[in-house]
Amino acid sequence: MAMEKDNNAGGTLDGLPILLTGLQPTAGIHLGNYLGALQNWVAMQRDHRCLFFISDMHAITVPGSGGGQLRKTTMDCAAFYLACGIDPEKSCIFIQSQVFGHAELAWVLGCLASVGQLERMTQFKDKSGHSGGFIGAGLLYYPILMAADILLYNAKRVPVGEDQRQHLELARDLAEKFNGTYGAFFNVPEAFVGNVCARVMSLQNPLVKMSKSDENTMGALFLMDSNDKIQKKIRTSVTDSEGSIRISAEKPGISNLLHIFSGISGDSVSALEERYAGVGYGQFKADIADAIIEKITPIRERFFHLRREENFLANVLEKGRIHAQGCALSLLDKVYDLVGFQRRFTEE
Ligand code: AMP
Ligand code: TRP
Repeated sequence: MAMEKDNNAGGTLDGLPILLTGLQPTAGIHLGNYLGALQNWVAMQRDHRCLFFISDMHAITVPGSGGGQLRKTTMDCAAFYLACGIDPEKSCIFIQSQVFGHAELAWVLGCLASVGQLERMTQFKDKSGHSGGFIGAGLLYYPILMAADILLYNAKRVPVGEDQRQHLELARDLAEKFNGTYGAFFNVPEAFVGNVCARVMSLQNPLVKMSKSDENTMGALFLMDSNDKIQKKIRTSVTDSEGSIRISAEKPGISNLLHIFSGISGDSVSALEERYAGVGYGQFKADIADAIIEKITPIRERFFHLRREENFLANVLEKGRIHAQGCALSLLDKVYDLVGFQRRFTEE
């Protein structure tokens, strides 16, 4: 993948928009991550210059998630990226903590953000409400680090699920604030939120999003779940007693299953509604479970294969790190210059 060090031309490179996005390597990858994020990323490689990273620095904002477990889940995440179809020949894949510049740019951007703005973030309010008393400053600062991740590569397009839209707004705001304060420099990034599966809901409570941290383990379906588990999770998913398969605000469970089915099969929701008119929930659920199994079995197999290929994975990540570091340092130098920090006498 030939990407120049200096990727700073209005968020495009070689005429293609620069795309950047990432996942936190906490626990496993669930169906929301796959349908709301990874599946779209794979398709977007065709017409973007892509950087996909593993946001391990974000992962430690959740107490107890660091250490050896993080080291393992970071490599799991890299293997999942490849298993799902991210192509290391086309795209840059790297680990956030291995590239200097993310934290440095976050510091500069943090000096432009107000505490009130951060305290109003929905995810901060949710997570700090469930923190058991301790609210880490990292949890508050997290959206600034995310803005830095994006701006460090002057990304134009950032594919995320619905839950990250507010963080993207902050990144846009900080890009504009920086431009207003130090001179026009950053491209203002756009969120790219897919349609059907931008918000996959919990299988046990379809009013809340499917999440890795769901206390009810039957609510989230992981790509690593066995076929039996997938069947059980779909079979016991919460629906309603009305008996008709259609999208409706009063039928959040069935609506969620229809969205999942559509995301997995590529069929439109209306085509599925038509196909399943008059069919019972039991059959509908069995068909969804089969479709999920068919889709993710090859991904799971590729994952296990790649996870055993430690050297190959390490090489992909090292190649990604070198490329990303080149982009990051060249951009950070320009930012430091605009901010008024002294120039270094020697090049690193
Ligand atoms: P996270 O698991 O929070 O690191 O999220 C990684 C990516 O998956 C982000 O782009 C999220 O917006 C997306 N995502 C997470 N949960 C869901 C969900 N339930 N439905 C759709 N997308 C999701
Ligand atoms: N915060 C994102 C999430 O939890 C992950 C992430 C970190 C990210 N930095 C990013 C996504 C930059 C897109 C761009 O899903």
